[in-house]
Amino acid sequence: MASDGVPRKVGVVGYGRLGQSLVSHLLTQGPELGLELVFVWNRDPGRMAGSVPPSLQLQNLAALRERHPDLVVEVAHPQIIQKSGAQILRYANLLVGSPSALADQATEQRLQSLRVTMATHPDGFRLEGPLAAVLSTGHRTVLYEGPVRGLCPFAPRNSNTMAAAALAAPSLGFDRVVGVLVADLSLTDRHVVDVELSGPPGPTGRSFAVHTHRENPAEPGAVTGSATVTAFWRSLLGCCQLPSRPGIHLC
Ligand SMILES: NC(=O)c1ccc[n+]([C@@H]2O[C@H](COP(=O)([O-])OP(=O)(O)OC[C@H]3O[C@@H](n4cnc5c(N)ncnc54)[C@H](O)[C@@H]3O)[C@@H](O)[C@H]2O)c1
Repeated sequence: MASDGVPRKVGVVGYGRLGQSLVSHLLTQGPELGLELVFVWNRDPGRMAGSVPPSLQLQNLAALRERHPDLVVEVAHPQIIQKSGAQILRYANLLVGSPSALADQATEQRLQSLRVTMATHPDGFRLEGPLAAVLSTGHRTVLYEGPVRGLCPFAPRNSNTMAAAALAAPSLGFDRVVGVLVADLSLTDRHVVDVELSGPPGPTGRSFAVHTHRENPAEPGAVTGSATVTAFWRSLLGCCQLPSRPGIHLC
């Protein structure tokens, strides 16, 4: 995988749905791809028992340096990025699986509009603060509509797609990308994400616009859809294929 022929060493932080899938891929396909799994850390180490080789279980995240990772993949919780992201970046590249953690970074300019709507069954949400108290009344309820920055703290696990959009459009950022969270009782088995982008008006007064609609199959109540698991694996491979450039990658 690496251009110099040396296996890239990958550490995984978080051993839930995404972490388990990535670890499984790394153990089975990693060697042929030039990737070596060097550690797995989970808040509850007991969850790794029986499926992660003991030598790969990292008990203390602060000791990750001893495993010499080239890339650390965070698939745990935004708090991990907030608490340990800077420390991880001292020793390795970091693939951020929970980009809603970065909602506190400011961006300024305004050039276009970007609106991301995420809809699923209310059981698929993990809401906090005032959003947790909003009751779904009726078939389809808009729980939040406004700047992504205002949504991330109260839906940190359901706003990652919007946070990634905010980071991918630095001219708009967290304050100007609009996030919409919708509880829809009919969406028991999927997450639906609509991205509506429009540019500034051209000489004719009309704007360029793109609208994508994604239906991601999901287990009832799951925060993470099925296609997302594959997307994370592809992102991990993408990080390892890039020329060696230190820094942060987003999922
Ligand atoms: N970028 C995206 O589009 C996208 C899509 C889906 C999920 N995610 C994010 O990826 C992360 C993992 O998702 P998942 O479906 O594997 O979740 P999961 O709940 O299945 O697993 C999360 C793991 O992290 C651990 N964990 C939870 N809170 C923690 C905390 N505060 N500190 C340390 N560890 C903690 C849990 O014990 C569990 O092992 C979540 O933050 C989720 O929001 C991002």
